[in-house]
Amino acid sequence: MSEKAVVIDTPGGPEQLKLIDVEVGAPGPGEIRIRHEACGLNYIDEYHRNGTYPLPLPARLGMEGAGVVEAVGEGVTHLKVGDRAAYASQPPGAYATARVMPARCVLKLPDAIDFATGAAMMLKGLTVQYLLKGTQPQGGLKPGDFVLFHAAAGGVGLIACQGARALGLQLIGTAGSDEKCQLALDHGAAHAINYRSQPDFAAQVKEITGGKGVKVVYDSVGADTWEGSLNSLAPFGLIASFGGASGPVPPINVGTLAAKGSVYVTRPTLFTHLASQEATQAMGDDLFGMVVSGQVKIRIDKRYALADVAESHRDLEARKLVGSAVLLT
Ligand SMILES: NC(=O)c1ccc[n+]([C@@H]2O[C@H](COP(=O)([O-])OP(=O)(O)OC[C@H]3O[C@@H](n4cnc5c(N)ncnc54)[C@H](OP(=O)(O)O)[C@@H]3O)[C@@H](O)[C@H]2O)c1
Repeated sequence: MSEKAVVIDTPGGPEQLKLIDVEVGAPGPGEIRIRHEACGLNYIDEYHRNGTYPLPLPARLGMEGAGVVEAVGEGVTHLKVGDRAAYASQPPGAYATARVMPARCVLKLPDAIDFATGAAMMLKGLTVQYLLKGTQPQGGLKPGDFVLFHAAAGGVGLIACQGARALGLQLIGTAGSDEKCQLALDHGAAHAINYRSQPDFAAQVKEITGGKGVKVVYDSVGADTWEGSLNSLAPFGLIASFGGASGPVPPINVGTLAAKGSVYVTRPTLFTHLASQEATQAMGDDLFGMVVSGQVKIRIDKRYALADVAESHRDLEARKLVGSAVLLT
């Protein structure tokens, strides 16, 4: 049976996204076939589409989805036909009605979590999980510590605000409008700074922290925030540079790290953390627990039809969205 999938032939703007007919075969060893109910919209999809992260062409897009397992390949033991499932996984290809994919990063979705929520939370929630719990400064993070989190009203951001609150951290969120700042506060940020109207956010961070600075800056904005992020750190603090929504971070002179107070820099990616099925399951169990208990609520701001994928990309890059968005198949 013919299925639908989104492809690009050339990197470029949202107009490059095409919905085409594809054949989806049977899963090979270690693979499953999944029928999607929904797939997640993520900023990494923008980088794939515009060539910031080049893919072999023609390329499928989408890294996050939820649906029902239709077929299971040889050697797959943790999933069976009919299971509700969700994932954040390589390779791209989640923007589709159905696909064959490696089973390793696909997890059974708890009955208490609907498919749209599953598709909205896996990539973003597992990212928050490894950032807050697995990307730590010297001596770790303790309740009461200050951290700075940019784009705090975005998909990753609103989950981070709630995750930080659950850990007792004082998260200072930045966002591009007063409405977005309020949303970050409503989701658990202790403070919020509008970095469009107040571009010197580092001065505000110093004021909030009594001149000390924060232990960790979680920076996914990149080019526009890099300098201010360095200036927001306490001595021996850590920058986790995990994205570049405004463009890549400029080349670093390592001497700067001494001048800013012997600070540390890491450039993590979720997919290092999801290297094994066991690690993925452990991180997923932690995330599912937070969502099922209500400690973290997944806000789906917008639902698009798969055929309207170009509109969803325009909205995401125009900073029109808050929380998560999904494409319904
Ligand atoms: N390394 C990893 O493991 C990993 C995993 C997941 C996501 N990420 C990164 O985390 C970030 C958030 O991902 P997301 O999917 O949840 O997206 P998102 O936060 O919902 O959207 C990106 C946000 O970045 C902010 N932004 C600042 N400058 C921008 C600019 N010049 N153009 C566009 N947006 C700008 C906007 O919020 P304001 O208007 O409030 O500024 C925008 O809403 C992305 O950079 C993504 O690549 C990294």
